[in-house]
Amino acid sequence: MGLLEGRAAVVTGAAQGIGLEIARVFAAQGARIVLGDLNAEALEKAAAELAATGATVQTVPCDVTDAGQVDALIRACVDAHGALDVMVNNAGITRDATLRRMSEQDFDTVIDVHLKGTWLGLRAASLVMREQRRGAVVNISSLSGKIGNPGQTNYSAAKAGVVGMTKAAAKELGHLGIRVNAIQPGLIRTPLTEAMRADIWAAKESEIPLQRAGTAVEVANGALFLASDLADYVTGAVLEITGGRGI
Ligand code: NAI
Repeated sequence: MGLLEGRAAVVTGAAQGIGLEIARVFAAQGARIVLGDLNAEALEKAAAELAATGATVQTVPCDVTDAGQVDALIRACVDAHGALDVMVNNAGITRDATLRRMSEQDFDTVIDVHLKGTWLGLRAASLVMREQRRGAVVNISSLSGKIGNPGQTNYSAAKAGVVGMTKAAAKELGHLGIRVNAIQPGLIRTPLTEAMRADIWAAKESEIPLQRAGTAVEVANGALFLASDLADYVTGAVLEITGGRGI
């Protein structure tokens, strides 16, 4: 029996990177997965790869900043599987710039995708989960929201906000059997970080006690723990998966 045998899970931003890895790990543990992402083409590729491993997988092109599209994503899961057991709010972008150069648009876009997008997913999932009297929500924050990164005033603010949102929701929803937790990944090699200059990457890596960047599967394993019954008594927690960076 997998840790998520028969559970229905929605993952946003699941076409690549950490979201896709979470989908892979969840599927390998028996979950039925609904993948949401802005990038419809990459989404189909990801779904085909998962289906080839025998996973039950479905795709819904979805912009997490649009309430109607997020509601439709959740509805697709409930229509297909009669439940929503796990919701992972993972979709994300960066628009890095110093305060001198960051446009108001760059600020708004990042806040919209991370903070509003996570809230829309959390809200829609909680409406289904409260009727079921069970469910687990995993919000992907970032170490950037704990320690702050120069050039990321928008992203760090949004990711710190995700922590506050997670704790408020955990308090609000606990009596309904719904757990809400967050993960703060550190430096993880994905398409999001691939573009980083080699010298900046090396400088960041040198700050990490475990002396290397993390992998998407190491973040996905944390999401699996929080989504599964192993974390039955865990809510409102922030799990740092950072190799010890920023402690
Ligand atoms: P990525 O860029 O590889 O994947 C992000 C996915 O989100 C893409 O498939 C993209 O199409 C999708 N997406 C973007 N905007 C969207 C929207 N409005 N609606 C729906 N989907 C949208 O990024 P990565 O690295 O996999 O990041 C995943 C999450 O982990 C993000 O929330 C990111 O902030 C967070 N994170 C990543 C770290 C890293 O080092 N890679 C470190 C800490 C946090």
